[in-house]
Amino acid sequence: KLSDLKGLKRGRLRLGVVTTAKYVAPEILGAFCKKYPGIEVSLGVTNREHILERLMGHDDDLYVAGQPREVNEQIECIPFAPNPLVVVARIDHPLACERDIPIEALAGESLILREPGSGIRDAVVKCFEQAGLTPRVRMQLGSNEAIKHAIVGGLGISVLSLHSLRLESAGGGLALLDVQGFPIMRRWHLLHWRGRELSLVARTFLDFAIAYEPEIAERLRNAQAAFDQTREMLR
Ligand code: PGA
Repeated sequence: KLSDLKGLKRGRLRLGVVTTAKYVAPEILGAFCKKYPGIEVSLGVTNREHILERLMGHDDDLYVAGQPREVNEQIECIPFAPNPLVVVARIDHPLACERDIPIEALAGESLILREPGSGIRDAVVKCFEQAGLTPRVRMQLGSNEAIKHAIVGGLGISVLSLHSLRLESAGGGLALLDVQGFPIMRRWHLLHWRGRELSLVARTFLDFAIAYEPEIAERLRNAQAAFDQTREMLR
């Protein structure tokens, strides 16, 4: 329809994503905007709790986040790309060359933890709890980037999304620790309200993002392989 084409020529897209997804959303948006140059895009990035608040407040058209804990029939929740959480240490960490490290080995490590409201934080705390361990929290930081710098600065180890480490996988002073039970295999979902019809732009972006997923998965595999290679070189 002509009106549809017009919509895609000029429309607006408001996207809200959790911090782990900010490493891939711009890339998808880049490809999308190349195809539909007239669309004006805004990308909101915040932690899980705040994204779910934005969802409740109808602030954006579409959201990328982990699955909401309670099932809400009114929210469409489409499984999207994997979001593996990995243990990260400085490259000279004594465990960086080890394989199959028992999680108990982390009990004595200084841990850098994200802020309350972060999905990563909840997953890490739950993982330690399930293993019957109390993490030794050295500091709390509200940014994945600041955490990476804190690790390099020698403040401790942390758990981050592999997506956030793609650039460092090519040698950024960081290593992945091969700890039992990790990666914690999370998955993003594309969320939107069922009762509120998606705009043509949002619907088109949704399909575009789903079609883009294999590329995201491929980048993840490459990042994992590069870190595995580093571990072998350290041995
Ligand atoms: P967050 O995002 O830690 O920034 O909340 C991670 C997630 O929910 O996967």
